[in-house]
Amino acid sequence: MTVPSHQRLLIVDYGSQVTQLIARRLREAAIYCEIHPFTAVTEDFLAEFRPQAIILSGGPASVTDPDSPRAPEALFTLGVPVLGICYGQQLMMTQLGGKVESGHHREFGRAFVTPVGHAGHPIFEGLFADGREEVWMSHGDRVTELAPGFEVFGSSPNAPFAITGDPSRNFYAVQFHPEVHHTPNGARLLRNFTRLAGFTGDWTMAAYKDEAIARIRAQVGSERVICGLSGGVDSSVAAVLIHEAIGDQLTCVFVDTGLMRLNEAEEVVGLFRDHYNIPLIHADESDRFLSALEGISDPESKRKTIGRLFIEVFEHHAREVGDATFLAQGTLYPDVIESVSVSGGPSVTIKSHHNVGGLPERMNLRLVEPLRELFKDEVRALGRELGLPEQFVGRHPFPGPGLAIRCPGEITREKLDILRKADAVYIDQIRRHDLYDRIWQAFAVLLPVRTVGVMGDSRTYDYVCALRAVTSVDGMTADYYPFTHDFLGETATRIINEVNGINRVTYDITSKPPGTIEWE
Ligand code: XMP
Repeated sequence: MTVPSHQRLLIVDYGSQVTQLIARRLREAAIYCEIHPFTAVTEDFLAEFRPQAIILSGGPASVTDPDSPRAPEALFTLGVPVLGICYGQQLMMTQLGGKVESGHHREFGRAFVTPVGHAGHPIFEGLFADGREEVWMSHGDRVTELAPGFEVFGSSPNAPFAITGDPSRNFYAVQFHPEVHHTPNGARLLRNFTRLAGFTGDWTMAAYKDEAIARIRAQVGSERVICGLSGGVDSSVAAVLIHEAIGDQLTCVFVDTGLMRLNEAEEVVGLFRDHYNIPLIHADESDRFLSALEGISDPESKRKTIGRLFIEVFEHHAREVGDATFLAQGTLYPDVIESVSVSGGPSVTIKSHHNVGGLPERMNLRLVEPLRELFKDEVRALGRELGLPEQFVGRHPFPGPGLAIRCPGEITREKLDILRKADAVYIDQIRRHDLYDRIWQAFAVLLPVRTVGVMGDSRTYDYVCALRAVTSVDGMTADYYPFTHDFLGETATRIINEVNGINRVTYDITSKPPGTIEWE
């Protein structure tokens, strides 16, 4: 672990579905933080990480269960401020000498907290302007007796210990979730806690860039690196950052998997060759990928197959460019968090993103992943900091497995061709209506279903195409984009008229959760 120049906060994850939001709220306040599962947070870990403050997340367990997760005792004797949220609060009370009861105290949804004493305390700064704060509760257990040293700071009709604190130790604990949007001033409470802990909000992209460059140089030394370029913003930013760090030691490889969108290969290779002086190999591997995927319809098998082939291709080119020993990837923080759970963390794995979980266990290349700590919007900010043209930075995300996961079921060249054409019409429509930059990601999906239609005087029996467009801040949660009916009607007509093989178009209005953005 390298020791960075900025202050850092540790978030211990007890498995809440919204733990990532704590990190988001803090990053928005220019505070560097990392989430680690409670299983990893040992006394040794704490000594190495040296956090300046700690937040204990919520979680699904009950502290009244003897096997429920705990924090190492050392966490409370480090002398750093601690904030417990929901399960985190109950855990603090249990471990520090209070009492928690389970059952018959379930409370979900909106509540109003009013302050109890402590007027003017810095934890209240900017809060309770109207005498109360709206908060979001979601808990089954509740605290019935405070641990010694703790006092009540705020209460709600159903939660007498909604906000509690031990100011002498700078320990605070809340029953509600300040990290969610349903607690409108929750971010302010989190920021007040970090201010009490001495954080100044010193985490900037310029600082991150310098630090990342230094780290890449230290990791790579004089060895050679190859970087898989997909045309997406992540791999582009990773490539330019690494190029700044090690110059010609970097070679980029654009792997045409046969799963790219219409004209994508030409566009990406062209853009990179025109803008940058980075050696670039254009590898046409479509036959290899498409034949390996023949007959596979299970989404995870597709992802694993593609992950394995990518590595084979990279290993091959690594030897070709003069024995590269490192593979650079644009892995992002949300991928890391989801993949951590595979190896024992408390939240469930939804899908194995190919740049993390889909990689084979045995691989000859070591990984360089300079974006591992960043959320997508932060990667875009870093891209701008590095001077990348807006046409790279503003591109919608495109997943590593490409169109394979937008063609549910078995993939064929015929289906991919149809999908590519439909997707191109759809994106063209979005650009014509000037909507591209308002949408996080838009794409077409070709469903493995044929339906009957009528065109002219003839019967048709063709595929169904689903359109997806979502708004999001970081891809962790998303809402479907509210196109007008006119737009949807016009787009459906164009797709059916211009794309042979599709006779029906639907619009996906599922948010994430419960859906995911991609269909597989
Ligand atoms: P989901 O479908 O999980 O997607 O809601 C969230 C974001 O991640 C992208 N995505 C991937 N990106 N490799 C990637 O590089 C992958 O395997 C992968 N799977 C999903 C997806 O396009 C969306 O932006």
